[in-house]
Amino acid sequence: MRVLVTGGAGFIGSHFVRRLLASGHEPVVLDKLTYAGNPANLDGVEVKLVVGDIADPDAVASAGEGCESAVNFAAETHVDRSILGAREFAMTNVIGTQVMLEWARTTGARLVHVSTDEVYGDLEAGGRSREDDPLRPSSPYSATKAAGDLLVPAYARTYGVNASVTRGANTYGARQFPEKLIPLFVTNALDGLPLPVYGDGHQVREWLHAEDHSAAIELVLHEGAPGEIYNVGGEDHENLEVTHRILELTGADPSLVTHVEDRAGHDRRYAIDDAKLRALGWAPAHSFGERGLPDTVAWYSENRAWCDNVKSGDYRAYYEEQYSARLKA
Ligand code: NAD
Ligand code: DAU
Repeated sequence: MRVLVTGGAGFIGSHFVRRLLASGHEPVVLDKLTYAGNPANLDGVEVKLVVGDIADPDAVASAGEGCESAVNFAAETHVDRSILGAREFAMTNVIGTQVMLEWARTTGARLVHVSTDEVYGDLEAGGRSREDDPLRPSSPYSATKAAGDLLVPAYARTYGVNASVTRGANTYGARQFPEKLIPLFVTNALDGLPLPVYGDGHQVREWLHAEDHSAAIELVLHEGAPGEIYNVGGEDHENLEVTHRILELTGADPSLVTHVEDRAGHDRRYAIDDAKLRALGWAPAHSFGERGLPDTVAWYSENRAWCDNVKSGDYRAYYEEQYSARLKA
């Protein structure tokens, strides 16, 4: 099957492309190559890469020629950047998703839209979010993801589009842009730089390996029902627990841990119920503590050139804007 993979030069998309090839499919990548998109993420992979924007219907039509299905990973993905400015988030995460749905409507192709557990919002009071729970997104990022995500069942019901949604937990692994907690803290620990923990660090996230997330999305591509939504869960850990495990694995000095001013609107806890996906036959293969995190730390320590390359240029300006006043306070 020829599959259009949007955002395939980003973190999870680059794992998914490898998985599709291993299953004998033919991926075609459409990627705008924003700061988070990196052709080096596809090094050694035999795949056609088309540079273009999912919000541009002509770019989608041209890249999608001959594709029977598509998986939409393309998005602006970082909560902290969405707090600095949300315009690109609205353009890609809402308008871009609508363009992908129109493409699926006119071609009859199947579409899987990759969404996030953040659309449910904070679960401080306990419990786990199910697919039919109300959405209460807290950040501009999650609000734009919720808007795009809700278009999918609407297109399935109104036009009969063959599209499903996945809502995945916090994903980690090789090739993740070092603005997110794990790659930022691992690369900073390796470089002897501060690990800026927001607030008290007792926030809880569910950690899901990128290969397990990719396996879930491939299963939904083949077995998911039109208009249906599938949660993809991980393992619950507090941010401080993750931070201390990174210190152990890198051998970095614990004094690098620096509590800084909290993220605005910070969600305290995410937790999802993924029984619906497990009923389709999915189960994660990576345990966070035993293999997932140690292998991930090893990847960043063995790929210093990749890290140095993505941590140069615009990254430095972003880091300065995001952290310098916080770290000085
Ligand atoms: P990423 O930021 O690493 O990659 C995003 C990719 O999309 C980049 O290659 C970028 O160049 C591309 N892109 C951005 N705007 C585009 C546009 N307008 N047109 C075409 N390409 C564009 O993201 P990721 O972490 O791999 O996330 C992939 C998807 O998974 C996103 O939809 C995200 O919301 C979702 N998700 C991520 C996580 C996570 O923890 N990383 C968890 C759940 C869901
Ligand atoms: O839950 C799925 C989501 O996970 C995805 O939809 C998003 O694309 C992805 O970015 C991620 O969002 P989070 O905001 O949870 O991830 P992030 O890595 O930015 O932060 C994880 C936790 O770590 C969160 O509680 C904030 C905290 N944190 C993060 C950074 C970058 C810190 O304490 N310090 C930091 O410097």
